[in-house]
Amino acid sequence: MVIELKIQKIIFGGFGLGEYEGVKVFVPYTCPEERLLVNIKEKKKHYWLGEIKEILEPSPFRIKPKCPIFTQCGGCDFLHIDYFYQLVLKKLIVNDSLQHLGKIFFPLKNPLPVLPFNYRNKVQMVIKKNKKVSIGYYKKNTHEVIENPDCLINPNIFNEIRNSFKQFLEENNFEIYDEKTQKGNLRFLVMRLGIKTDKILLIVVGKEYDKRIERFMDSLSPEIKNKIIGFLYNLNPLPKNRILSRDSIVIFGDPFYFEELLNKKFRISVNSFFQIHYEATKILLKRILELMVPEEDDIIFDLYSGVGVFSVILSPYVKEIIGVESEKSAYEDALFNKIINDCLNINFLLGRCEDVLSQLPKATKIILDPPRKGLSPIVIKELARILPQVILYVSCNPTTFVRDLKTLLTFNYEIETIELIDMFPQTYHIEILAKLIKK
Ligand SMILES: C[S@@+](CC[C@H](N)C(=O)[O-])C[C@H]1O[C@@H](n2cnc3c(N)ncnc32)[C@H](O)[C@@H]1O
Repeated sequence: MVIELKIQKIIFGGFGLGEYEGVKVFVPYTCPEERLLVNIKEKKKHYWLGEIKEILEPSPFRIKPKCPIFTQCGGCDFLHIDYFYQLVLKKLIVNDSLQHLGKIFFPLKNPLPVLPFNYRNKVQMVIKKNKKVSIGYYKKNTHEVIENPDCLINPNIFNEIRNSFKQFLEENNFEIYDEKTQKGNLRFLVMRLGIKTDKILLIVVGKEYDKRIERFMDSLSPEIKNKIIGFLYNLNPLPKNRILSRDSIVIFGDPFYFEELLNKKFRISVNSFFQIHYEATKILLKRILELMVPEEDDIIFDLYSGVGVFSVILSPYVKEIIGVESEKSAYEDALFNKIINDCLNINFLLGRCEDVLSQLPKATKIILDPPRKGLSPIVIKELARILPQVILYVSCNPTTFVRDLKTLLTFNYEIETIELIDMFPQTYHIEILAKLIKK
């Protein structure tokens, strides 16, 4: 079935939304105000899914995507949209979530532009084999691997290593994992880069150790080889979606890399989280420092503290910081980062916020940066007990952010600011930073 449709807006998830005879229709790779002929692919109970058949009236912000595999590869959502308009759309997406999910009306500004390409400091690619080896990302909503030899959002060096690795696997006839039969071995190629330190952590994930992989380093150019701080083999035999297990063999160098931000140094281990875009992270950190207005007698909780970045940058200005992190490797990195940055007033705790918070005394200010699922009811309950003067909430998911914000506002807080940071250019994802103050 083909319909004519006008796109009203872009929603979180990257789809354009239009309405046809009262039914909501979602179409990817579109722009607001575009008039389209749309092929309806699927009719669900409350909405339809379509794809562009023909663009009748293009948006003035539509551009020719620079990537030949855009729309096949699931890595990017917005390559067809001028970068500055992407920033406007991200503001509108968050605005929409605030208004519709939270009945919250707060004037937002566009996020600042940042490096729009070659920005990712971490990449996780799938290895597959049909007749030939493929390495790339999954096609959207499928498990089909799309080859990405020249990915535009990766640093070029990731593409070079990926291409050499593919050749190495083909030449040496490695066994590749097959998701359906769960037979075979090699599964993922993971790379992480310290943007300031220019060092790479290289990780191959497989079901069992294949010693021949050690020779891969020899097939790299001396220039790339010099940049590799660690080469690991991660053993992941479980047929689940989780990419890395906690079990790595160090083939060469160290199981971590380093990054530098605002004159502080951070160790980041293979299993530890780190923000994905260097320049955007710098903006985030500077705004956290400004909005926190740290004072000498402040006791700050840094909840979901990762490798301790927020704690370390706030440490010189306050009395005490308590960081809580559940992932052991990130906690251990945080302990290391506390020492190398000379931040003796931080106390990092290993555990889930849900389990640890009730044992903690009061904080004057709290910073929260939970994973996508947001805050659990137990953590919310503890926040209601502690009632700090200031809450900074960092989120990468507008839906759970608005849900939590709505609850926090009922504890007598008001919004001082909600700001957006473009941590993930060319995708629909966006980082949110909000400051709440006690009335
Ligand atoms: C979005 S990251 C933020 C890390 C850090 N704030 C940063 O910017 O580098 C979320 C962190 O929360 C940790 N985490 C997830 N669930 C947790 C929980 N229930 N309690 C404590 N930490 C948790 C994850 O391991 C991860 O390091």
